[in-house]
Parts: sequence; structure tokens; C-alpha cells
Amino acid sequence: MNMENDNLFIMDHPLIQHKLTLLRYKNTGSKEFRELVSEITMLMCYEATRDLPLKEVEIETPVAIAKSNVISGRKLAFVPILRAGIGMVDGVTKLVPAAKIGHVGLYRDPLSLEPVEYYSKLPSDINEREVIVLDPMLATGGTAIDAISIIKREKPKCIKFMCIIAAPEGMKELIKCHPDVQIYCASLDKCLNENGYIVPGLGDAGDRIFGTK
Ligand code: URA
Repeated sequence: MNMENDNLFIMDHPLIQHKLTLLRYKNTGSKEFRELVSEITMLMCYEATRDLPLKEVEIETPVAIAKSNVISGRKLAFVPILRAGIGMVDGVTKLVPAAKIGHVGLYRDPLSLEPVEYYSKLPSDINEREVIVLDPMLATGGTAIDAISIIKREKPKCIKFMCIIAAPEGMKELIKCHPDVQIYCASLDKCLNENGYIVPGLGDAGDRIFGTK
């Protein structure tokens, strides 16, 4: 893993990078795209949960009594940002099946440019949990910044943000607005184009996951 800044983790693991290349191909169809998003997310989740605390317990194997480790204390919640973030839920719940899942849906009012929260349902005990926010693409950063602000109102123990591809513009804004949030991504791409797409990116992640193009 290559750490570019105290709070930014760019995952350069060969398996993640290989799968990311397959994900970017314009001819990768929805079925394979969904599977790749899930696999990449699972590999990223493995790293993003590296700091979970352990406690020692005594167990009995078929051979002997032994001391062994289990994850202690800190509980997790994943919060996909609608809609594309839903594509990442399968990957994280395969690794952490006991985690709770919240959802946040936002759009920007075209006149006021204020974020409008059209859906938000978070676990009732989120204040006892570490939250990992999921969105495959960090473009301008606006949605991620607003979603994290909404989640912060509920006072979770801490918040991490996980995306697959980030644009430098969005990354800078996110770090500026939420310097306390650790960010995990598989690639920091070149820039945003005039239509707000990440270059080279992979196109519209939601459309490619749900086959809506
Ligand atoms: N959202 C996407 O799905 N793709 C982009 O390139 C930018 C934002």
C-alpha cells in the first residue's frame, strides 16, 4: 500500500490494480463489472479494516487449549451513497457479515446548489460504530463531503471513506472539508472533464453497475 498523505491510502496491490484495469475497459459488461466492483471492494476492505483491535480469547482446538485472537469492541457500519455505492455492499458484507448497513441519498438543488437529502437511513446505534462510507467514484467530492457531514451529525466513533477511483479535485476538497476522515482508493486519476467525468475513469459507475445506459 502506498500512503501519499497521512489520511490517504492508495491501494497499489497487484490484484486490485489488475481488476481495476478490467473494470475500466469500455467493453466490460454489467455482470462482470458488478463482480469486479465486489472483488475490488473486498480487497480494499481487507486493508481498510487493518486497524481493528483484537483481543485474546482461550479456545479449544481438537489438539490443545490455546490462546487466539478475535476482533474486539469496535463495531462497523457501512454506508453506501446512493446509487452507485450499493454496488460495493456485497464485497464488504462478505468480509464483515455482522456489520450494519445505512444508506444516504443526496442530490444538489440545481438552483441553490444546496445538497438535498432525499433519503437517509442509518443504524440506530451508529454512535457506537466505526463507519465506512462507500462510493466507487470520488469526482468533485460534493456528494461525499455532504454525505459525511450528514453521518457526522449522528456522532459515529470515526468515519472512513472508500472509493475505487478518485479525481484529484475531489480528493483535495474532501481532505480540506473532512481532514479527520481516512480515505481509501485504488487509483487517483488525472482530472475531471467538462462533464464532471473522471479521466480516464470508467464512465458512469451507476449505469455500468445497474445496466441503465
Ligand atoms: N461518477 C461516475 O460514475 N463517474 C465519473 O466519472 C464521475 C462521477
